[in-house]
Amino acid sequence: MSRIVSSERVKFPKVNISRWSVLEGEKMVGIRFLGHAAFEIKGSKRILIDPFLTGNPKAAAKPEDFDKVDLILITHAHGDHLGDAVKIAKRAGAKIVAMYDISTYLVESNKGITTIGMNYGPTEIDGVKIVQVPAWHSSSDGKTNIGNPCGYIIEIDGVKIYHAGDTYVFKDMELFAELYGIDVALLPIGGHFTMGPKEAAKAVELLKPKYVIPMHYNTFPPIAQNPEEFKELVGDKTEVVILNPGETFEI
Ligand code: NI
Ligand code: MN
Repeated sequence: MSRIVSSERVKFPKVNISRWSVLEGEKMVGIRFLGHAAFEIKGSKRILIDPFLTGNPKAAAKPEDFDKVDLILITHAHGDHLGDAVKIAKRAGAKIVAMYDISTYLVESNKGITTIGMNYGPTEIDGVKIVQVPAWHSSSDGKTNIGNPCGYIIEIDGVKIYHAGDTYVFKDMELFAELYGIDVALLPIGGHFTMGPKEAAKAVELLKPKYVIPMHYNTFPPIAQNPEEFKELVGDKTEVVILNPGETFEI
């Protein structure tokens, strides 16, 4: 059971009544697209991934909108992913989860933040299972390399979400399906810096998620894409959920 909640409808009850009557006590997890590769995941914890909001022409939120966040996950050090992580972490008390080297870099250049450095592997933070997985890309401040790029598989309230970060398609995505099983995959389709629609459709074939949400397209001219083309390439084995910035998908 899942649905899209548009930004205009957030005032209405967020709970799916029919699901509650069937599965007592089980709440839904909300995945809100904030534009580009930025997402907010809301369940028993509030998690942000790659919160690039300032300077993002498609941003559906401002750093000031976040007062309480548990975790901020960073896939790599490029500005369109690291974004407002430090600013939000400071005001909302969030811990930043990142590749070890990025974590060290952030702590050394910013006072008053808490980071958790990983280096590809599984862990559990505040009751959320997180697997940091590889991605094929680079990671730098534009000049100096900082750590390696990654993706994340997050299990929150029984829902498994894969955020691929910036990456090209790779065959090891099959392993993610085999080891964890993916409910929702968030995949870049913009091309130029990442997979395009064709490669992302192949990734869907390897990952076998129930739902896929395209991201990292139409923010800037080099990554202009028609998500409907991606939807057509994926076919009917996985449901393609196209979110406008600000919209929430509930599962
Ligand atoms: Ni990047
Ligand atoms: Mn990027």
